[in-house]
Amino acid sequence: MKEPLKPITPAKNWRLDSWQEKPAGQQPVYDDPSELNRATTALAARPPLVTSWEINSLRQQLAEAQAGKRFVLQGGDCAETFDECNSTIVANRLKVLLQMSLVMVHGLETPVVRIGRFAGQYAKPRSANTETRDGLTLPSYRGDLVNAPEFTAEARRPDPQRLLRGHACSAMTMNFVRALVDGGFADLHHPEYWDLGWLEHSPLADEFHRVAGNIGHSVRFLETVTGQQPGSLRRVDFFTSHEALHLPYEQALTRQVPRQWGWFDLSAHFPWIGMRTAELEGAHTEFFRGVRNPVGIKVGPGMDSDWLKGLIRHLNPDNEAGRLVLIHRLGADKIADGLPPLIKAAKATGSPVLWICDPMHGNTEKTANGYKTRKFANIQSELEQAIEVHAECGSRLGGVHLELTGENVTECIGGARELTEHDLTRAYKTTVDPRLNYEQALELSMLIVRKHQSLGL
Ligand code: PEP
Ligand code: CO
Repeated sequence: MKEPLKPITPAKNWRLDSWQEKPAGQQPVYDDPSELNRATTALAARPPLVTSWEINSLRQQLAEAQAGKRFVLQGGDCAETFDECNSTIVANRLKVLLQMSLVMVHGLETPVVRIGRFAGQYAKPRSANTETRDGLTLPSYRGDLVNAPEFTAEARRPDPQRLLRGHACSAMTMNFVRALVDGGFADLHHPEYWDLGWLEHSPLADEFHRVAGNIGHSVRFLETVTGQQPGSLRRVDFFTSHEALHLPYEQALTRQVPRQWGWFDLSAHFPWIGMRTAELEGAHTEFFRGVRNPVGIKVGPGMDSDWLKGLIRHLNPDNEAGRLVLIHRLGADKIADGLPPLIKAAKATGSPVLWICDPMHGNTEKTANGYKTRKFANIQSELEQAIEVHAECGSRLGGVHLELTGENVTECIGGARELTEHDLTRAYKTTVDPRLNYEQALELSMLIVRKHQSLGL
């Protein structure tokens, strides 16, 4: 039996609404506060999306990852939409994550913690509060939790009813994911269940089938040797995460539960604080100081050592294991110089942290014809550098954070099929950031394994 973690110590001078006394960035402005109040009151009475024991189990697994015994794969859409809350999109995204994790478990010889960026990834930070087109200025689109992307006054009006729809879509997604996982969809005996039709035409097909075949073989071998069917090989766990941006939504889903002290944010297992809302004295940091979930912090190029140390002390004053995940997203051209001082700063606090790399958000660019894109080569380069820099600094890259989809989109340039700028016009579907398509995502998981192997890690 594993030693259970000590519970996180209660935060001092914290209340469920103490964040309201701090400046809260990236919040929509609702034209009728009483309408928002009615929606959050209704939301606070709805059932939660996850449970405290699942959250504690993730925290235990993240503590093991901090100790070098697990690798984290976190991935999904930049922004989910209510329209895409459908079975095909949800199942395909799950399949890609399962396939990638299979490649990683096999190649890294380490258990993988699977965390979806789904079932609640509906709120987006924006660089400006408003958008102007042809002389008309309207509120920016802030994700389906807040408003709709069409450029009309009605669509862009922040609508509190969307908080309830966001909760309902998250619940439907969760329900389907749980049913698929429990029903054997993720059974390690049958990787063919998660095959996507495209795979047979892919340049990566042989390598994936070799890995899948080896795993099936190992599973059967283990069962023969032990004379039983280990239950844990029948299913795999999936955790959920989203950027915890919309604080009235998070507050309404943060609860106390029977027989446990403290507060759990039951909107997701793993909320993270985005780069634009990670101020030390800001409302998001204040809110997450008081919840018991493991919490992620995005670490961008603007964050210096003192700021990072302050955040770590604030959010994990008692240096508890499994509590903090630092998600660096510095960019392929900045990581080599930017990361070492941050690693040093985190070490100096004495807090255990898990470092994971988001190679997407520091590598976004615009093409000449106006598409927001990312080059696969830059994504690969940032990830490979991350693995190397951590090793050189006596640290360890403990996971990856990716924007991806199980669909055949053309949003990022490059990869095994060598997509070009020209291909972007074919299947560019994202409302916010460009995602890796299924094939680019699977390829990246193979490259992560290869890099570890080439460094003897
Ligand atoms: C995101 O993860 O979609 C995002 C907005 O990231 P960041 O906060 O790192 O910019
Ligand atoms: Co994004």
